[in-house]
Amino acid sequence: MPDATTEIARRRTFAIISHPDAGKTTLTEHLLRAGGAIQLAGNVRAKGDRRRTQSDWLKIERDRGISVVTSVMTFEYAGCVFNLLDTPGHEDFSEDTYRTLTAVDSAVMVIDAAKGIEARTRKLFEICRLRDIPIITFINKMDRESRDPIELLDEIASTLALDTTPVTWPVGRAAEFAGTYDLRKRAMHLTSELPQSDPRLQAVADEVDLVRSALPEFDLESFNAGHLTPVYFGSAIKDIGVSDLLDGLAEYGPVPRAQPGDKRTVEATEAGLTALVFKIQANMDPNHRDRIAFARVCSGRLTRGMRLKQVRTGKQIPLHAPQFFFAREREIADEAFAGDVVGIPNHGTLRIGDTLTEGEDIQFTGVPYFAPEILRRVRLDDAMKAKKLRQALVELAEEGVVQLFRPQDGSAPLVGVVGTLQLDVLQARLGAEYGVAIGFEASPFALARWIFSVDKAALAKFISENRSGMADDVDGDPVFLATSNFMMRRAEELAPALTFRDIKDIR
Ligand code: G4P
Repeated sequence: MPDATTEIARRRTFAIISHPDAGKTTLTEHLLRAGGAIQLAGNVRAKGDRRRTQSDWLKIERDRGISVVTSVMTFEYAGCVFNLLDTPGHEDFSEDTYRTLTAVDSAVMVIDAAKGIEARTRKLFEICRLRDIPIITFINKMDRESRDPIELLDEIASTLALDTTPVTWPVGRAAEFAGTYDLRKRAMHLTSELPQSDPRLQAVADEVDLVRSALPEFDLESFNAGHLTPVYFGSAIKDIGVSDLLDGLAEYGPVPRAQPGDKRTVEATEAGLTALVFKIQANMDPNHRDRIAFARVCSGRLTRGMRLKQVRTGKQIPLHAPQFFFAREREIADEAFAGDVVGIPNHGTLRIGDTLTEGEDIQFTGVPYFAPEILRRVRLDDAMKAKKLRQALVELAEEGVVQLFRPQDGSAPLVGVVGTLQLDVLQARLGAEYGVAIGFEASPFALARWIFSVDKAALAKFISENRSGMADDVDGDPVFLATSNFMMRRAEELAPALTFRDIKDIR
């Protein structure tokens, strides 16, 4: 039987964050290829037909040519087991991306060398920072006309307030890009040998001297704390610099971290199994209409056939057929260790934020709901289906498709989303899976905030005085809805004993 401590130490669980078009898909393909999962490489490409038929589980994805779901890709390289958690590319599904980021130990930030830091990279970076996730930077498309590397490093440092240290340096630029020089190992990785007299080699020597004197050395502690990012240069499409990146992740990429819980922090190396559900995916296979909970193993060893406790309800969940995911392929998992992600088939018992243990009463924290940016009232076309709609909305909200707010005055439920495509997904799924036709109507409310207070009397008073703006979320927690920013600020001023939050840990 493999030793759990050794197994955990070789896990590298990460995600890629980037602005669309920076090269995330291309890099993913080449990472998988480097890890020997060549047959999968063709499956990753979102724009390719093969990928479309294979991984666009929802019709809506097919129609729009976008990928909504998050999947997990596992491969081995340099003695490590890499779990790459894929995130939806479209920003309307960013809530899903944010939650996935709670299940990784590090993130690779891909930057287009001609464009530098773009809006979405920045936003995703902020989420990583909030969670102290160490970031590794890959500056892509060095085979094209690009900005000066020093200028790019400066931009990362100044816009993200993050120290940078290049681990590799590009040899040549644009059409002349010939490989990388490893500053730490002092080794050249070239696509083909260059003569000693090649001006690119002299240029690298000069630039590296300059960089060494100007920038800090790589410091593991600083990297682990999220203060410093090691930087790699490359071209995903030409497969240059990709193995540098994997070597780096293998060498110092963070091992599975400790997971904070409500009662204590659980170390990854603890013997008892714990896991955290960060995503639910329904109908991945239209023929089976199943529902898969994606759980990150936070500590210990998971074995097939185990019975786990769902802490929220106290129910026992049998693990008959935990699954590993290899892009579209599934395989039954016999064993998994801290850092791994397994899919647990279920019929709606498990929900986002659920903690699974061997019996301990602990609830992990840190899987968030974000205050929606768009609120809509659900209009039901057939009043006979009101009960069905209520149940369907709860199920889909528990899956994280949308957020659900039930106004305390008994009026029709509101749904909240970050991007409008989520509304399309909701409508399509209500129709296809529940046979309920709905439409959306404008909501009088523009903003939602969770309200908290240690002063229970003040909380109760606020709720009773603001009944027409109060709603319950899917957990039954109170949410204050305001028609405008102004009204929200006013409510905050009038109720100083309360805190109004735009982020809530799922519990
Ligand atoms: P994304 O997932 O981050 O959105 O980016 P994706 O990998 O799809 O790459 C976006 C475009 O950039 C693609 O071209 C891709 O071929 C190109 N690309 C990715 N990496 C590199 C690189 O290292 N160098 C160069 N020169 N190009 C790169 P496209 O024309 O938009 O798509 P396609 O027709 O090639 O699929």
